[in-house]
Amino acid sequence: CSPKRGKEGREMITRDTPIFLVGYMGSGKSTIGRRLADRMEREFIDTDIFIERRFHESVANMFTSVGEEAFRRREAVVIEELSGFPNAVIATGGGLPCHHGNMELMNQCGVTVFLQVSLDVLAQRIELCKRTRPTVRHLSGAALEEHIRQAMEVRLPIYQQAQYSIPCDDICTPKDEIRVAEEIALLLDH
Ligand code: S3P
Repeated sequence: CSPKRGKEGREMITRDTPIFLVGYMGSGKSTIGRRLADRMEREFIDTDIFIERRFHESVANMFTSVGEEAFRRREAVVIEELSGFPNAVIATGGGLPCHHGNMELMNQCGVTVFLQVSLDVLAQRIELCKRTRPTVRHLSGAALEEHIRQAMEVRLPIYQQAQYSIPCDDICTPKDEIRVAEEIALLLDH
């Protein structure tokens, strides 16, 4: 994109403006992202899946084959490419906004929405889906909670740079997903 949007650029959202969802693992970026893309008639893109297709390898494997630093560089390349993508809702990997100035790029090129979830709810959700998440799959119980707490200490100030924040603790059913997607769509559609 040609970076020109700031917080005051909210009112300039057009079809060409990508919508980026940010937040920790388990915050609902992919689930809500799909619903939002349906609601707004946009394409849904998940950066983890995009990277896996591009590099023909799972994210979990990349952490062992090329290492986290190389994965973060891949994320940076991909988010720069996607920032010029029209008509998209983009769910970003949990660590993506926190490296290589990616949060700044997303704020300049698109509209950013932070899906905000409390630590205990994150821990409950991640316990159920940690197998494919290399940074947490070896952890459980108190150790998992402590890992999330420490990660969020670093990440929260970055996620909070998003232009919008949506509380996402109470998403249990498809009806809840649709309600939250509708809430975001109305916020952005004004
Ligand atoms: C990560 C989050 C994951 C994935 C990778 C690292 C992180 O994405 O990018 O496992 O550092 O928080 P999700 O947030 O989509 O699970």
